[in-house]
Amino acid sequence: MKIYLEEGKDIEALVSIYYEDEKKIDNLFDGKEAEYLFIPSLDDKKHSIYFGLGKKEDINHNKLRNIFAKLFKKLKDLKAENIEIDKVDFNNIEEDLFLKTMLEGFMLTDYSFKMYKSDNEKEKQQSLYIKGFNTKNKDKILNEVSNIAKAINHARDIISMPTCDLYPEALANRVLEIGKESGFNVEIFEEEEIEKLGMTAFLAVAKGTKNKPRLIVMEYKNNGDADFIGLVGKGLTCDTGGYSIKSHEGLKYMKADMSGASYVVAIMEALAKNKCKANVRAVIATCENVVDGDSYKPGDIVRTMKGKTIEVLNTDAEGRLTLADALYYIVTKQNVKKVIDLATLTGLAGSTFGSLFTPIFSNNEEFLKYFMDIAKTTGEDFWQMPLDDRYNSYIESDIADIKNTGSAGTITASMLLKQFVEDIPWIHLDIAATASQYPIVYEYASNGASGVCVRTIYELINKGV
Ligand code: BES
Ligand code: ZN
Ligand code: ZN
Repeated sequence: MKIYLEEGKDIEALVSIYYEDEKKIDNLFDGKEAEYLFIPSLDDKKHSIYFGLGKKEDINHNKLRNIFAKLFKKLKDLKAENIEIDKVDFNNIEEDLFLKTMLEGFMLTDYSFKMYKSDNEKEKQQSLYIKGFNTKNKDKILNEVSNIAKAINHARDIISMPTCDLYPEALANRVLEIGKESGFNVEIFEEEEIEKLGMTAFLAVAKGTKNKPRLIVMEYKNNGDADFIGLVGKGLTCDTGGYSIKSHEGLKYMKADMSGASYVVAIMEALAKNKCKANVRAVIATCENVVDGDSYKPGDIVRTMKGKTIEVLNTDAEGRLTLADALYYIVTKQNVKKVIDLATLTGLAGSTFGSLFTPIFSNNEEFLKYFMDIAKTTGEDFWQMPLDDRYNSYIESDIADIKNTGSAGTITASMLLKQFVEDIPWIHLDIAATASQYPIVYEYASNGASGVCVRTIYELINKGV
């Protein structure tokens, strides 16, 4: 839907927005949160729509985002091509923030995955005119939110694409395209070069398929000599579990095991499109974890780039092996001063929190606090988890330096990663249950993939770290 911040022409439907009790229509409307009333015009004039924001004192901008996402879905279903939203009372919310959140609610909801529908009927073109915003920043805000939403939608496409079409090489090519279109550099390393770098834990996971792995390295530099921040995304284009094979239930959604990688690309795209002042490097170690005679096997011992050996007791705990090398590579070869990784790492994250909270780990309290403060403004929920050295005993191996499984799974996976970031400030986000949400928690995650962490990390980098 095309959005304009101005008065519309040939309007077929006018939306009026009220807080609770501001407008009462007997038994039909009293302005409760997300209440929607459509009153058709019978004489070809404008239809009227009433929409409620709930109690004035209860509203905050993070609520608004979800409420406006609900309105957007209703408007999408309308037959009208030109819709206008009347001036709305910002209540106690600052105008720029109100506008930004409203646009996020609309634009992040405007997505569906149609790439594989043969009856891909042309979507009707609708225009939404929003009145009442006078802030001098309105065009800038519209443009910024639109670029972020487009970047998230590109990531959603990548996540939804099946593994037969979205294998490591295809992902690398897509990242090259996005880099070229939006303005960041991309370098792709193939198997031989990855081997030369010594990333043999990553290569062990990738062994069982002719769809060869790729190491994708991105750079966006637009802030002079400032320090680089590093991003790492888990990039399994397919995770069957390998020999420790998943159940048929567990296999269903494993084409999405590169959500972390896709969201990292979305952050790069959004930063570049919005020409943010920032220096960022990002790394994705992408491969498939499948069964073949050549696949790595339970009991194998792999050597990481760092030199530490890992006993593989479960080939389905493959993400931490690829990330151990990717994290070590970015902190030792890419000169980043802080690093954040996003990974669909452990199913247990969802058993604990469902899709409401993303477990967050950090080796640096200050960095973590900064992140959590930004998250309050973006409306994404995180829950701090312990990185307590006593958990190291859970991943001790009798015959190698460490092992790749251990009870307290979400925590022990992070304890393993911690050993590869060389003590630089680091945040690990286990997005296994929040990258895609079933059932959805963010109203705008209407087609599965939520885009979680993209807006928070974008803001964090844009504000300066
Ligand atoms: N990609 C999965 C984690 C996952 C599970 C993501 C469900 C999204 C939804 C990961 O590679 C995995 O399989 N982890 C194992 C670890 C275990 C074997 C220690 C898990 O969570 O079961
Ligand atoms: Zn796995
Ligand atoms: Zn996985």
